[in-house]
Amino acid sequence: MKVHPQTRSSWGICLLCLVGWAVAQNPIPAPITFEPSGYWDGNDGPWSSFGLRLGPTNNTQHVRVFPSFFFSNIFVVEPSGCPSTNSTNSTSNLTQADCAAARGAMFSYASSADWAPMGDFTWSQGSPQLDLQGIFGQETVGLTWDDTEPIISSQTVAAMAKYDFWVGSFGISPSPFNVYSYSEPMPSFFQSMNSTGRIAGNSWSYTAGAFHRNFTASLIFGGYDVSRFDSDTSVKIPVVQNSDKAFTALTVQIQRIRISGVDAGVQNISSAKFEAAIEPAFSALFLSDAICGGFERAFNLSWDPASELYFIGDAAHEALMALRPNITFTICDPEETNCHEIAFPYAAFALSASYPLIKNPNGTIASDNMSTSYEPRRYFPIKPSKDSSSTLGRAFLQETHIFADFDRHYFNISQTMFDPTAESRVITVQAPAEESSGLSGAAIAGIVSAVLTAVSTVGYLAFAKAKKRWPFRAASTTAASAVEGEEPASFKPELDGAGVPRAEMSCTEDRKEMPCADKPNELAPCQSGGDAELMGSIPLYELPGQDVEGVEEAAKPKK
Ligand SMILES: *[C@@H]1O[C@H](CO)[C@@H](O)[C@H](O)[C@H]1NC(C)=O
Ligand SMILES: *[C@@H]1O[C@H](CO)[C@@H](O)[C@H](O)[C@H]1NC(C)=O
Ligand SMILES: *[C@@H]1O[C@H](CO)[C@@H](O)[C@H](O)[C@H]1NC(C)=O
Ligand SMILES: *[C@@H]1O[C@H](CO)[C@@H](O)[C@H](O)[C@H]1NC(C)=O
Ligand SMILES: *[C@@H]1O[C@H](CO)[C@@H](O)[C@H](O)[C@H]1NC(C)=O
Ligand SMILES: *[C@@H]1O[C@H](CO)[C@@H](O)[C@H](O)[C@H]1NC(C)=O
Ligand SMILES: *[C@@H]1O[C@H](CO)[C@@H](O)[C@H](O)[C@H]1NC(C)=O
Ligand SMILES: *[C@@H]1O[C@H](CO)[C@@H](O)[C@H](O)[C@H]1NC(C)=O
Ligand SMILES: *[C@@H]1O[C@H](CO)[C@@H](O)[C@H](O)[C@H]1NC(C)=O
Ligand SMILES: *[C@@H]1O[C@H](CO)[C@@H](O)[C@H](O)[C@H]1NC(C)=O
Ligand SMILES: *[C@@H]1O[C@H](CO)[C@@H](O)[C@H](O)[C@H]1NC(C)=O
Ligand SMILES: *[C@@H]1O[C@H](CO)[C@@H](O)[C@H](O)[C@H]1NC(C)=O
Repeated sequence: MKVHPQTRSSWGICLLCLVGWAVAQNPIPAPITFEPSGYWDGNDGPWSSFGLRLGPTNNTQHVRVFPSFFFSNIFVVEPSGCPSTNSTNSTSNLTQADCAAARGAMFSYASSADWAPMGDFTWSQGSPQLDLQGIFGQETVGLTWDDTEPIISSQTVAAMAKYDFWVGSFGISPSPFNVYSYSEPMPSFFQSMNSTGRIAGNSWSYTAGAFHRNFTASLIFGGYDVSRFDSDTSVKIPVVQNSDKAFTALTVQIQRIRISGVDAGVQNISSAKFEAAIEPAFSALFLSDAICGGFERAFNLSWDPASELYFIGDAAHEALMALRPNITFTICDPEETNCHEIAFPYAAFALSASYPLIKNPNGTIASDNMSTSYEPRRYFPIKPSKDSSSTLGRAFLQETHIFADFDRHYFNISQTMFDPTAESRVITVQAPAEESSGLSGAAIAGIVSAVLTAVSTVGYLAFAKAKKRWPFRAASTTAASAVEGEEPASFKPELDGAGVPRAEMSCTEDRKEMPCADKPNELAPCQSGGDAELMGSIPLYELPGQDVEGVEEAAKPKK
């Protein structure tokens, strides 16, 4: 239907016609269902993965990834992440092809005509053989195996080799990605889908799938599938924005964790409420020592300090599979006005760890030969968080479903439904009608900057806390001064594009990232009691614009 501008006024009185015209001109885009790859991937799962296509249409590369709520960019494994067994850099007899298959396929930016490099970074895994490079660039990214839409160019992709991050990650954050030396923030793939009109609003829904139920993951942009969750169990939780209107982590209150079905009836593992962030880039649940100890005793788990995993012995596993206990989390909103119990069968927590996660007592990777002498070991995906924070990883998203609406600033967490006969029914969620179209350019710039702060803070906290390190590493000479809370002279403030320090959300004061009242500089420990990570010897810089390849390591991450 084509309507010429001059005919519009005569149609003005016909409201229905106008609506019809608007719809015809601007159809509401349907939600985009990102179909799982069909593979069960990961060395700590198995997990239902998603396939991305990268590169130009005449030379597409395919990789498999797991979603991340915090990240705004994409991490993929580059070829040096799977060294040839002939290479002196090789730490295993895993063939390159087997390694690539295990890591969800490799991405070679060198053979992509669309790749626009942004910078190189090095990081250390604590072993010289694993000091590998991460290379950031912009790449064309699509969600299908073929070349159907959506395909979006200039997405930030990091090609990494690090063994810690065995399979790549697909950041679905609604916040843009900041790059140190770039004056403009890089929109995330999710943002790009909205801003290019491919989805009707800033919402997505995700559940990780469950191998023990033979049920794959679900990831939908711009809506949700009512057949995948029990709406009677939904707990609605605000998506918290800080004072600068920046998005923070999806955080729930866990009021209680109890176990039923072992020993005498119901056992409380935790009855003191705590906050926990949800982040599917990790598999494990990072919980307090007390809670981990409770699980350890209830399920006869044994902690392996070298591998940093709770292994489940065969006898304990057989006993538990016969008892079929449940692990029940009571999840609440911050006000505790709405709480629901979500039950996990033990089987959801009986996962499999394989190369290179299992370590010898001296810390070396157990078995060089993945294909034969190395047996995967059953493990229970909880880890002591080592500080007061808790993070619930992908294992938690097996039995929970998240629908996040960033336009309306909330997310719902619900019990996942696993009904193979249920027909999927996908609901479109539209952004609310524009209330304030009059944001000034300055205000928009301020909000964008604030969102960047959230990305750095949330991403850093989640990853540094959980992994006890942050992979991006700046020159060692700047480490000491950064720890002391001084801005190293050689590093420019965030968002600086021309050597001129630019303030975030302020025209009069020069504010740094991660502000806090007493120590306003980047990396100063803001949290009461001093967070060890924030004070640690590894400084955080968001993608420093210089090439820091080959710098001396300031400090090896502790084991
Ligand atoms: C893909 O197309 C571009 C230009 O359209 C061309 O330069 C390039 O060589 C092609 N690559 C392959 C692998 O065919
Ligand atoms: C590794 O070495 C073997 C023989 O030593 C050779 O056949 C093979 O092609 C080499 N592989 C690579 C990737 O260089
Ligand atoms: C080994 O790694 C270094 C950098 O870490 C790289 O410069 C070198 O080319 C690699 N060697 C081989 C044989 O891959
Ligand atoms: C792994 O070990 C088996 C024997 O234990 C051997 O036959 C096989 O060649 C080894 N694989 C590699 C890649 O070295
Ligand atoms: C989403 O896209 C619409 C237009 O397509 C735009 O008005 C809105 O600002 C976008 N939202 C965000 C958060 O980018
Ligand atoms: C798992 O599900 C797939 C497809 O849904 C089916 O083809 C396969 O047979 C199932 N496997 C098992 C072990 O039930
Ligand atoms: C989210 O949860 C609230 C409260 O339980 C419920 O009223 C609402 O319908 C849910 N929304 C969706 C999209 O499921
Ligand atoms: C575990 O939960 C399921 C479903 O909620 C229930 O049917 C079963 O009886 C529970 N088992 C135990 C031991 O509580
Ligand atoms: C477990 O905690 C709940 C409250 O969180 C309490 O009512 C119950 O008595 C506790 N049960 C046991 C066995 O301690
Ligand atoms: C744990 O071990 C103890 C003693 O070794 C045993 O009595 C108990 O039944 C075991 N529990 C489970 C869940 O295997
Ligand atoms: C570490 O232990 C393993 C087996 O326990 C042994 O094979 C290896 O040589 C040891 N490595 C070092 C560096 O001590
Ligand atoms: C790995 O391969 C090298 C040479 O191919 C061999 O010397 C070494 O023994 C192998 N190690 C294992 C654990 O198979």
